[in-house]
Amino acid sequence: MNTVTEKTAVYKAQDYYNSTPADEFYFKIWGGEHIHVGIYSHPAEPIKEASPKIVHMMAGKLKLDSDTTVLDLGAGYGGAARYLAKKYGCKITCLNLSETQNERNVHFNKEQGLDHLITVTEGNFEDIPFPDKSFDVIWSQDAIVHSSDRELVLEEVDRVLKDNGDFIFTDLMQTYDCPKSILKPLLDRIHLNSLGSFGLYVEKARKLGFQKTEVTNLSDHLTTHYQRVLEETENNYDEMVDLCGKDYIDTMIGGLKHWVEAGQNEYLSWGIMHLDKTATA
Ligand SMILES: C[S@@+](CC[C@H](N)C(=O)[O-])C[C@H]1O[C@@H](n2cnc3c(N)ncnc32)[C@H](O)[C@@H]1O
Repeated sequence: MNTVTEKTAVYKAQDYYNSTPADEFYFKIWGGEHIHVGIYSHPAEPIKEASPKIVHMMAGKLKLDSDTTVLDLGAGYGGAARYLAKKYGCKITCLNLSETQNERNVHFNKEQGLDHLITVTEGNFEDIPFPDKSFDVIWSQDAIVHSSDRELVLEEVDRVLKDNGDFIFTDLMQTYDCPKSILKPLLDRIHLNSLGSFGLYVEKARKLGFQKTEVTNLSDHLTTHYQRVLEETENNYDEMVDLCGKDYIDTMIGGLKHWVEAGQNEYLSWGIMHLDKTATA
């Protein structure tokens, strides 16, 4: 187990995801096993149907089989790990600093008979508790957003990825021209100092020597997703207030409105980044 020693963004993310209101909120509203942006065929699509589609899309970019070892950074409740284990028989390690989420993850893995393929480890992706060159694939969904040092996360990924490995991830990001006044309320909602961008990740990946840096821009889905999360929260307001408390839900609704507005004004980015150490671009 990795011990988190600095009271930084890491601790803030840990406290945030461990808290009962956040756990109840994400588990209920964001679709149970998945806590990430989904892929929407239409604006009213249920979040639970949209969420798994991005996992399928990401997996489709990789060559996976029962010999593949995967590390999922910031694995949440482990929805992606169970999909990869079920469909391809991969061996997956879920790294996540939230003990509350890890407990649910372990429970689902046992319940679905997948615990022989999935290991859940408590730890910090800024200091990955595994040796150099240990994994074929590093996977991450909407988690690196929580780091205050995203370049360090990429350096850690580079260290633990095998020479011919793939790094595939999604993240919530800003466009290069997003004004500070728009950014501030977004960052406040999830206790962050900054957001990354496609440009920042591609630049760092190239510096680290990744040959292929493929970007799939899916930013429209981010706005639809936050709109759906907002609608679901408002439609289930009384139940969510009982579960999470009025302050939490009212603050959440205010924060979600900022995310929807920023997305509609095209100040936010979201999509898949697929980095490959050996392939030619
Ligand atoms: C939005 S959730 C996404 C969860 C999961 N990837 C999914 O898509 O369902 C962000 C996740 O990142 C985890 N996280 C945040 N900072 C982390 C860190 N420094 N190290 C490990 N996990 C972290 C949180 O605990 C949470 O599980």
